[in-house]
Amino acid sequence: MPVPTAALDSSVCPPLPVLGQNVTVPLVTGGEVTYAALDYAASAPALQRVWDDVAAYAPYYGSVHRGAGYLSQLSTDLFENSRRTVAEFLGCRAEDQVVFTRSTTDSLNLLAAAIPADCQVFVYETEHHASLLPWRDAQVTYLNAPRTPAQAVETLERALAGRDPYGPALVCVTGASNVTGELWPVKELAAAAHAHGARIVLDAAQLAPHHPVDIAELDVDWVAFSGHKLYAPFGSGVLAGRADWLRAAEPYLAGGGASRKVARRADGGVDVDWHTTAARHEAGSPNVIGVYSIASACKALTEAGFEGLVAREQELVARVREGLAEVPEVQVLSLFGDDAPRVGVISFVVRGWNSSHFAAALSAEYGIGVRDGLFCAHPLVRTLLGSDPRDPGECGAPEGGPGERSLNAIRVSFGAGTPDEHIDRFLGAVSELVREGARWNYRTEDGRCVPDRGEAAQVR
Ligand SMILES: Cc1ncc(COP(=O)(O)O)c(C=O)c1O
Repeated sequence: MPVPTAALDSSVCPPLPVLGQNVTVPLVTGGEVTYAALDYAASAPALQRVWDDVAAYAPYYGSVHRGAGYLSQLSTDLFENSRRTVAEFLGCRAEDQVVFTRSTTDSLNLLAAAIPADCQVFVYETEHHASLLPWRDAQVTYLNAPRTPAQAVETLERALAGRDPYGPALVCVTGASNVTGELWPVKELAAAAHAHGARIVLDAAQLAPHHPVDIAELDVDWVAFSGHKLYAPFGSGVLAGRADWLRAAEPYLAGGGASRKVARRADGGVDVDWHTTAARHEAGSPNVIGVYSIASACKALTEAGFEGLVAREQELVARVREGLAEVPEVQVLSLFGDDAPRVGVISFVVRGWNSSHFAAALSAEYGIGVRDGLFCAHPLVRTLLGSDPRDPGECGAPEGGPGERSLNAIRVSFGAGTPDEHIDRFLGAVSELVREGARWNYRTEDGRCVPDRGEAAQVR
């Protein structure tokens, strides 16, 4: 079996304790197995430390910015201290604002609503839909997929050189691809943007959980990320960065908390004096648990040390890539090539297999959770597959055979909590499925590939 068996050198930083490590799931072939969560890029398991911090705070829960009681004061302090922790985690500049949102999607939509009316936006077609789509009401230029990091910079420079040099402009780029895991040349792109008088927002949804993100060092204007990908699954996100556009914009939501003073006007209308701090875009009662959990995750990752976390994750990345490379039927998807630096997010197709079928078999027969599809980055995945936009066929039907293109892909992703065994099981399962086929029949039900029921369902 083409699976490397040497133990990993995880002495630098062992896996961090996460929830769900002992959860067992049923196998279609009978029995149970501990669940191997290899879909961190969608949502990572909660760090035990985050869970413990939230549990310790929960009895003291109270309203934020809205109460005279002791627990309300305590919760308000916790909320504002969390803002400081996140600012520190991101290396924010003194004048930056940290706005709490629901998610990266929410953060980028907030920024899109806050850009000046005449702002030109430049975004690569390779972006996740959360960073591709919010700008559609602006004057947006979609940049073609570059095939090297250097080409990404050239493409941007060419596009910016042709823009109205006097108007505001914004570049939106992801730090690490949610499809290939590849790192984008953020610092160089920021320099190019600034050289042309444009600003830049970094979608760090996939970068922040795997890598230190320093807003000042990268010299980006804003950073967006989500708690649930950073081991803090309580429904919060972050938009951090320059205050001026945020301060000048209409509040993202109108309501309590965003308004400093509200009064009826003589003509019957209402006058509002909006906050100019982050509160301007945080109307409504904030999600203090979600915010605190992000701060807790930031502290836990910082204390564990990114150096050790990155070192271990890079060993896992190498191990997965080497293991997959030994299965000739597997093609790993890549925009920037084999040598590109990347995080623990790897997408691939298997010749002769429908990707949904393959992912369903990994789950049902091995207890491994991965993702299949186009990963909310349809233009990128279609570029990588060279495929057309047809719907994937029925899940049993092979695709990607000789002369045929796959219509979607399989993604395996991992991080700070991933034990060696999950990687071993995954690589063993891939090679066994390719070599011997699925042990079960599958069918499409409500658009998902699921194990067939009935006596004839077992294949081997
Ligand atoms: C690169 C990237 N950006 C943005 C998002 C959106 O994140 P959320 O769903 O938390 O808003 C994702 C989610 O997968 C992502 O991978």
